[in-house]
Amino acid sequence: MPATITSIAHYFPPDVYTNEYFEQYLDTSDEWITERTGIKERRFLKEGATSDLIVPAAKLCLERRGMKPEDVDCIIVATVTPDHMFPATACVVQNKLGIPNAWGFDLSAACSGFLFALVTAAKIVESGGARNVLLCGADKMSAIVDFEDRAQAVLFGDGAGVALIEKSDDPNLGILDHILYIDGEGGKYLYQAAGGSAKPASIETVKNREHYIHQEGQAVFKAAVKGMADVSVEIMEKNNLTKDDIAYLVPHQANLRIITATAQRMGISMDKVMVNIDKYANTTAATIPSCLSQWWEAGKLKKGDNLILASFGAGFTWGAVYMKWSM
Ligand code: ACO
Repeated sequence: MPATITSIAHYFPPDVYTNEYFEQYLDTSDEWITERTGIKERRFLKEGATSDLIVPAAKLCLERRGMKPEDVDCIIVATVTPDHMFPATACVVQNKLGIPNAWGFDLSAACSGFLFALVTAAKIVESGGARNVLLCGADKMSAIVDFEDRAQAVLFGDGAGVALIEKSDDPNLGILDHILYIDGEGGKYLYQAAGGSAKPASIETVKNREHYIHQEGQAVFKAAVKGMADVSVEIMEKNNLTKDDIAYLVPHQANLRIITATAQRMGISMDKVMVNIDKYANTTAATIPSCLSQWWEAGKLKKGDNLILASFGAGFTWGAVYMKWSM
């Protein structure tokens, strides 16, 4: 049996920061941000860490499935903003939720984190390694964004999406196929220079602002447009899916122009594309699960819907998942 998503929830912090907020102190404008990215506002967590974004979403996710903490077998946290380098945020979440019998780990694949973790969780469940996986995609991007740099300050937000992965009870529903890629040649265009073993924290690294995101926007943009569109078409062709077969494209939300280009290459109209970048910006590992959760809450997802989940992020990492919605 394939694995599937049996419950989903999301959490965004309450504090809203509009484009006008950045106009007050950076040389930017609502017009530039809206036209170039599609972003109008984002949420930042004022106090707390990535685990504090996950906990409310995870509680709701379990409640929706009627499960207790003791029922959870495994926890995976996809994030590039872990609470600490170690211990894993999965351990922090386990402790905060009082889950007594689980194992788990963090997974680092930047904006593809949720997709890579979804495939990993599916394989663990399908192989019998766990009955279920509490799959958390979450990032507190405000912890690593350089708010003095207009080229990145406006792009990101904080949030979490949590899905429960279990075996499907129908062989035709669930996570049916995936195509995933990495290419380390892209590493030089999007990274955090210091804080790892290659460049431990020092007074110099702090002075040089090397603990913040470094992104060469144009280079990443070109690779993202091609990577996300190519892999989305590739998974459609591999599964003999036409544009009419697709209920929704669920793309990573980095830039509305990248999303639109992907939809165009797939031949699908924008009413079949999940978009929440306008309100929440790029929440990295949380974009795809938060979209799924919001569309499910709104009653727009039906059992049997064909979904293509697609992402592109730092690494480079990119990929697509084909799933038939089962809830
Ligand atoms: N306000 C006003 N002007 C700005 C701003 C801003 N916020 N940011 C940049 N500009 C300026 C630049 O300085 C530049 O000015 P110049 O021509 O005088 O030099 C001009 O706007 C154009 O800059 P570009 O970087 O060429 O703008 P672009 O159209 O490429 O948009 C953006 C930038 C939004 C970052 C885009 O390149 C992009 O979306 N890139 C891909 C992002 C992505 O997919 N990341 C991967 C996921 S993130 C992750 O994995 C963690």
